[in-house]
Amino acid sequence: MKEKTSWESSAKWYDKAVGEKGHYYHEHLILPRLLDILKRECPSRFKLLDLACGQGVLARALPKEALYTGVDASRSLIQQAKSRSKNSKHGFFTGDLTKPLDLPEKDYAVACMVLALQNIETPLAVLMNAASHLMEEGKLILVLNHPCFRIPRQTHWGVDEGKKLQYRRVDRYFSPLKIPIQTHPGKKETQETWTFHYPLASYTGWLREAGFAVLEIEEWVSDKKSTGAKGKMENRARAEIPLFMTLICQKNR
Ligand SMILES: C[S@@+](CC[C@H](N)C(=O)[O-])C[C@H]1O[C@@H](n2cnc3c(N)ncnc32)[C@H](O)[C@@H]1O
Repeated sequence: MKEKTSWESSAKWYDKAVGEKGHYYHEHLILPRLLDILKRECPSRFKLLDLACGQGVLARALPKEALYTGVDASRSLIQQAKSRSKNSKHGFFTGDLTKPLDLPEKDYAVACMVLALQNIETPLAVLMNAASHLMEEGKLILVLNHPCFRIPRQTHWGVDEGKKLQYRRVDRYFSPLKIPIQTHPGKKETQETWTFHYPLASYTGWLREAGFAVLEIEEWVSDKKSTGAKGKMENRARAEIPLFMTLICQKNR
């Protein structure tokens, strides 16, 4: 298969950045919250499909008894996932999520996609694919960089000196954008990945078209804390502007 992802050339860097337990936000925010959602939403059947699994960080955070399948377009990341995995209930496959997938199972109770839907230009194709591998009323959990407040190159922190307030500036939101991200900014040798921005209503529209109902939206703020002269201002801004948006969806009957 020709790699359908810009992540193949960044795989080594990404594996190192994520490591065994995940990067800071995986470890401190995303994985603990996601596990809480999984316990709540599918307490009895834990058969999970991880869409764009990368090097398998979610697999390693799950309870040992969970049946897990991870799919990713990057051959190298799937290789890393396999070599890091010690659980015989885990399977990893190379596959392009915008195309039909050749998976051993169809009726997953839950599909998760962590920080990856925004790396794909055609989210509807992925959501359709997710629906075709879930059981009736199966759950789909999408963790996104918050599409309203975290648009690469178009959202920034600013400081209003008069009000002693740190604010979030949003330069563009409504237009779809294709944004290159440099893995090693400033260095001569750098790889590029792509982020695709769409406004929130595009996601809810595609979910409906793919046969999902949105049950709940969670918004997660950073747990980091600043100290020093600007600490109060920075902490207040952090507590007001969420980093991540998680959509908890259910496949229609
Ligand atoms: C930011 S990484 C997230 C990986 C993993 N979910 C995690 O949290 O570490 C984005 C992932 O999307 C994968 N990806 C991008 N386009 C894809 C596609 N069309 N099909 C499958 N995976 C894709 C990349 O290979 C990469 O592993």
